[in-house]
Amino acid sequence: MDKSKEILSKLKEYRDLDLKYEKGNIFGSMCTKPHPITLEIIKMFYETNLGDPGLFIGTKKLEEESIQMIGKLLHNPNAFGYIISGGTEANITAMRLFNNISKANFKNKKYGNKKNREDSSKIIIPETAHFSFDKSKDMMNLDLIRPPLTEYYTSNVKWVKDYVEDTISKNGENSISGIVGIAGCTELGTIDNIKELSKIAYTNDIPLHVDAAFGGFVIPFLEEKYKLKNYNYEFDFSLDGVKTITIDPHKMGLSPISAGGIIFRNREYKKYLDIEAPYLTETLQATILGTRTGVGAATTWGLLKLLCKDGYAKITHECMEKTTYLTNKLRENGFETVIEPVLNIIAIKDDNAKETCKKLKEKGLYVSVCRCTNALRIVIMPHLEFEHLDNLVNTLCKINKK
Ligand SMILES: Cc1ncc(COP(=O)(O)O)c(C=O)c1O
Repeated sequence: MDKSKEILSKLKEYRDLDLKYEKGNIFGSMCTKPHPITLEIIKMFYETNLGDPGLFIGTKKLEEESIQMIGKLLHNPNAFGYIISGGTEANITAMRLFNNISKANFKNKKYGNKKNREDSSKIIIPETAHFSFDKSKDMMNLDLIRPPLTEYYTSNVKWVKDYVEDTISKNGENSISGIVGIAGCTELGTIDNIKELSKIAYTNDIPLHVDAAFGGFVIPFLEEKYKLKNYNYEFDFSLDGVKTITIDPHKMGLSPISAGGIIFRNREYKKYLDIEAPYLTETLQATILGTRTGVGAATTWGLLKLLCKDGYAKITHECMEKTTYLTNKLRENGFETVIEPVLNIIAIKDDNAKETCKKLKEKGLYVSVCRCTNALRIVIMPHLEFEHLDNLVNTLCKINKK
């Protein structure tokens, strides 16, 4: 066997150790089997580097056009942004932006001479936020303020309003550097009241970031019949206070990993992130990563063009139908959910969630657990079929002797 064949066959052995989406036993992932067209796209773009965009002009155009298309979806024709490695990088970028804006406002005395900033930046962030914000805190010395949750597992906006007004009246403008809301939280899929958060942010001149890493490719396509009365589904740039949005093509967008999106309200925000990169074709770089693949931009562009609104609406519909099916089947068998599912995520109450998770794994089924409450967490991604859901319920019944 020649050396390449030998290496490829060895690699295949390793790859065979991985789980495969199509087997229907991955129940806790927000990623899924990418759309088949992306295999061709990966081949075409595998050597591209958006860290040096002047060398890859076509790929850069694809990134810009992808951002424009996503911007349109989010009601913003002036959107600016990047297709980056994922939701973590997108959230860290937003926090870097807010931290830098706050520091610049202080330096330029935007609000006068009053000392209106501590050394750290105060960011109001939901209890249900993804752990990528904790990484931002580590990197940037942020002071994360966590409002209490409502009974619907959303950030308590009344508390946020009182906190903002109280802090500003004591410490002056710029004493709060940003607010975060989540549209589709990782563990439960809940949507914060972004409309109210936006009002608070706009009135007090505080930037609002929306983490729609998961929900961004679901909520715009959700049929009215799935919308629950205790949630407000508005989350995008049509709300004046929203300045940045994380939206990930590699989750419900069906792109292969790595494809995350950070979208800014407009290009004006770039200057707060720019770092000089004298030896590159574009000498100011705003992204956290330097060298970065263009594959995510190309696959995102391809899928947005191929699937369009109707394609994504169909995927969303199918996932929501399966979510309803699984919820009903669980209830018929005596299980309870933590909340009525808001998106295609189900949290099943379980005081011994970790133990159940372990037992399911022994049976070859992979679910995850929640941190915010005792529950198993199931994400109904497109790779899951009805028979896989039946198998999960039957196995859960056996484990729980129901
Ligand atoms: C709401 C939300 N934000 C951010 C992230 C982080 O995304 P990634 O894993 O692509 O970095 C996740 C991941 O699950 C998420 O659910």
